[in-house]
Amino acid sequence: MSELARQTILVLNGPNLNLLGVREPTIYGRETLADIEEACLERAEVLELDLDFRQTNSEGQLIDWVQQARDSADGIVINAAGYSHTSIALMDALAASDLPIVEVHLSNIHRREEFRHHSYVSRVARGVIVGLGAHGYELALDAMARLLIADS
Ligand code: DQA
Repeated sequence: MSELARQTILVLNGPNLNLLGVREPTIYGRETLADIEEACLERAEVLELDLDFRQTNSEGQLIDWVQQARDSADGIVINAAGYSHTSIALMDALAASDLPIVEVHLSNIHRREEFRHHSYVSRVARGVIVGLGAHGYELALDAMARLLIADS
């Protein structure tokens, strides 16, 4: 292990992502959220990052976690699911966190219904990864590792 303290990435998942694997698999794939967490843990190990991987169906819980991340994390990877398109409150919390944010969507939201084309999270994200399925989470961790080095 390196002598430096490892940085922690909070990976947040919003509503209905607990149903991955059974939920509309033609859109979201067959991998479960547990599969995605495992892949993220492996990638984080390679990147020498600590991972805190969470899911909630509640908007308030997401906001509480983002507020706490200010003191406990170095960056946030977030798939806010449906709240991406609706939640000004979540966007405000992310902006207030002062942390680098990378947004992920499993599906390509720009190829889908018009109401999915706009994301409030994108306004406060350093980058956005869409349409690459579960692999997008690993790409987001790679991007976050680079951002943390660039910002240090
Ligand atoms: C999603 C896309 C959102 O539009 C949708 O509400 C989700 C999942 C995705 O990962 O593709 O729940 O964020």
